[in-house]
Amino acid sequence: MVKSTVKLPTNALLEALNLRPKHVFVSGASRGIGEATARLLGDKNFNLTLASRSYNRLLGVAMDIGTQKAHAVTMDLADENSIDAAVAAAESRFGPIDIMICNAAVHAETPLDDVSVEARQTFRRVIDVNLVGTFFLAQLATQHMPSHGRVLFIGSTLGRFGAPRTHAYSASKHALLGLARGMAHELSRRNIRVNVVNPGWVDTRMARDALQSMAQAAGETLQQVTAQQIGQQPVRRMIKPIEVAAYLEFLIGPGGDAITGQGIDISGGAVMV
Ligand SMILES: NC(=O)c1ccc[n+]([C@@H]2O[C@H](COP(=O)([O-])OP(=O)(O)OC[C@H]3O[C@@H](n4cnc5c(N)ncnc54)[C@H](OP(=O)(O)O)[C@@H]3O)[C@@H](O)[C@H]2O)c1
Repeated sequence: MVKSTVKLPTNALLEALNLRPKHVFVSGASRGIGEATARLLGDKNFNLTLASRSYNRLLGVAMDIGTQKAHAVTMDLADENSIDAAVAAAESRFGPIDIMICNAAVHAETPLDDVSVEARQTFRRVIDVNLVGTFFLAQLATQHMPSHGRVLFIGSTLGRFGAPRTHAYSASKHALLGLARGMAHELSRRNIRVNVVNPGWVDTRMARDALQSMAQAAGETLQQVTAQQIGQQPVRRMIKPIEVAAYLEFLIGPGGDAITGQGIDISGGAVMV
């Protein structure tokens, strides 16, 4: 057999030519906004690490995208060791993380008049997952992140204003902007941009569960509460997960290079600043 003398380009050369597929880590890719983002980017020239607690669901998404360019890792944001292991597994599969999408979060009601042990545990759990674990994940990803990297936190319009019974969730989402602003300063000399994308009501399991809890607390139907919430927005409909994903794709690209330390609202006009 004649041996080929054609030399394949090295990683460094591919990088210089901007051809190496960027490595995107999506937390919470097992459903909702994270899954829509993974599927959208999976159709483009990216390598993807998909992380959350549900390995089988993640694996299904990875297999649909193609296991050459997507893999699943189990990660619980409430468990530091599992965050460390997930980032290590991601880097060993596709190299340093270029784009960290911190999307995973939990929503739970934390009403003021509930001072039970369980209510306090819920408060701590929401802050632990949505803020503490989310920061540790972003922090780890930036240790080896190449120039022109991105950290994108998924916040919420509840990081812009408050609402009854959502104190832990709202506090955790407000805090993300503080994180992003500090990180944006610190990472700018490495050409890494850090932003928070704040969705309004997006049609996912989290939104449906939250609206159901609100309906229960108010003694109203799900349809009534949904209509009230959507009725306050100039764009009177639920946002689709793909609409958030498409904006994340824009921020990852060259159009996002001059945007950092910002909270950007995809809220159907519920927030106007
Ligand atoms: N839907 C909305 O109306 C809305 C509005 C504003 C902001 N957001 C934000 O958008 C993001 C995505 O929400 P979504 O609506 O797509 O919610 P979702 O459908 O409930 O999905 C949440 C994702 O987070 C993962 N997750 C939850 N707890 C986790 C943990 N401890 N460790 C690792 N992963 C965990 C879940 O996967 P596993 O269960 O497999 O772990 C799932 O993949 C969140 O940051 C949310 O706060 C949503």
